[in-house]
Amino acid sequence: DLKGFAFDLDGVIADTARFHGQAWHQLADKVGTEWTPELADALKGVSRMDSLELILKAGGHENDYTQEEKEALATEKNDNYIKLVETLTPADILPGMKDFLDELKANGYHIVLASASKNAPKVLKYLQLTDYFEGIVNPANLSHGKPDPEIYLEAAKLMDLPADQVAGLEDAQAGVESINRAGELSIGFGADLKDADVKFAKTGDVSLAAVKAQMD
Ligand code: G6P
Ligand code: MG
Repeated sequence: DLKGFAFDLDGVIADTARFHGQAWHQLADKVGTEWTPELADALKGVSRMDSLELILKAGGHENDYTQEEKEALATEKNDNYIKLVETLTPADILPGMKDFLDELKANGYHIVLASASKNAPKVLKYLQLTDYFEGIVNPANLSHGKPDPEIYLEAAKLMDLPADQVAGLEDAQAGVESINRAGELSIGFGADLKDADVKFAKTGDVSLAAVKAQMD
């Protein structure tokens, strides 16, 4: 039986995947890598430095920068991202997610955040959702990012639950793979998440009943 839910943040709770994309697009233009929809998708769920490496590699620029210069580029992207985050209000919570959090809370489910973003606490604060979460996995303590299962295993640990009583919610392929490899129930939002156990076309379709309907 499900007892806890681990939420991804960007693209699941708010449309901040779009903000990450905007800020990375600016960075790609700066280093001379062509920005494509495929590149944008490949960055979803991927850590800051790994994302930078993917962008540099996509344009053949991986050897053009020193480690120090790479860190400066990542900082510049993050500064631009934070400017966008600071415009967030509760009106930016994706459709259905506030109701789903309320439903989970009313029914006594555990709720934690499993985002690779070091900005997650800040984003939750601007969305005024901090109080729903009994814990936030700290991505700074992880040795491997999604699609490695580590982050979702940590989420289960935070809730003190075995993996098979946990569901994870994701909008990206790397995240769904991470949940699946952790042995948890994967709930995927969006058109092309073939590997998710439970699939919804959009966030507004999620509810406890809708999840359970796809589980039998
Ligand atoms: C999430 C997003 C990624 C982002 C990563 C790190 O996984 O989906 O797009 O790169 O977090 O975010 P941060 O805010 O720490 O740079
Ligand atoms: Mg995401």
